[in-house]
Amino acid sequence: MKKVKKAVFPVAGLGTRFLPATKASPKEMMPIVDKPLIQYAVEEAVAAGISDMIFVTGRTKRSIEDHFDKAYELESELALRNKAEMLEFVRNLLPRNINCIYIRQSEALGLGHAVLCAKPVIGDEPFAVLLADDLLVGEPPVMRQMTDTFDYYRCSVLGVLDVPRIETGSYGIVRSSKVAERVERIEGIVEKPKPDDAPSTLGVVGRYILTPRIFHHLENVTPGSGGEIQLTDAIASLILEEQVLAYRYVGDRYDCGSKLGYLQATVEFGRRHPEVGAAFSDYLAKL
Ligand code: G1P
Repeated sequence: MKKVKKAVFPVAGLGTRFLPATKASPKEMMPIVDKPLIQYAVEEAVAAGISDMIFVTGRTKRSIEDHFDKAYELESELALRNKAEMLEFVRNLLPRNINCIYIRQSEALGLGHAVLCAKPVIGDEPFAVLLADDLLVGEPPVMRQMTDTFDYYRCSVLGVLDVPRIETGSYGIVRSSKVAERVERIEGIVEKPKPDDAPSTLGVVGRYILTPRIFHHLENVTPGSGGEIQLTDAIASLILEEQVLAYRYVGDRYDCGSKLGYLQATVEFGRRHPEVGAAFSDYLAKL
């Protein structure tokens, strides 16, 4: 089986939890200090050796395309003002060998539907899915840990972590049995179960490596939780014919889809920021 070279970034969600900030611009462009969420996710994919970035976009998502595109006006302004360092920075946002591909999802019919929109570009290859509002910090970066796991086991791999039982209704929850340190075989998966119905407290975070067989299942699932085409439901049907693993990644997660997680990430990244970290830490200490 091939290496993972393509990643899908579903970015067509409505971002209702951050309205009005997300009324005219996507939640994935919200910055943590000075870098938008989507860029953290793309950098994580680059670190995993992925070269084709496929963005499944929707309304109000133009700024994501602009962000990764050449910015002629900005570049000439910076050149005129002799801001060489800034110019380098803007020019080299991504390594040169990276391709950015944009697919438009005309209706927000769910995460599963968004992934299915990428089928014509993925073809018959394993691929990654990264949800940019899950900001993961790991060394090696979490997607790299997952591609290493994929290279070893040659099957679909989902990033998971233990969540408080009270929060199972926010996650895909797996039932699994241990295969190795950090690796479990998934025996069942259910989208957003109530705490009393959850088969475990092992929740899926927004990192997936999937075999192309998932498309067959996405084409056949009926709308599930929230009336949407759910990726989780297609995975539930994929495990009946292929092994799918859960991988307990090493690292920290910030749920930037929630205001609290977003603020926590801002404080943590602010404290570590090379330019303002020391001053910001002093400020926090005085609060
Ligand atoms: C999605 C998935 C869910 C997963 C979660 C991780 O839900 O449907 O299975 O656990 O991402 O963040 P969302 O948070 O988009 O509602």
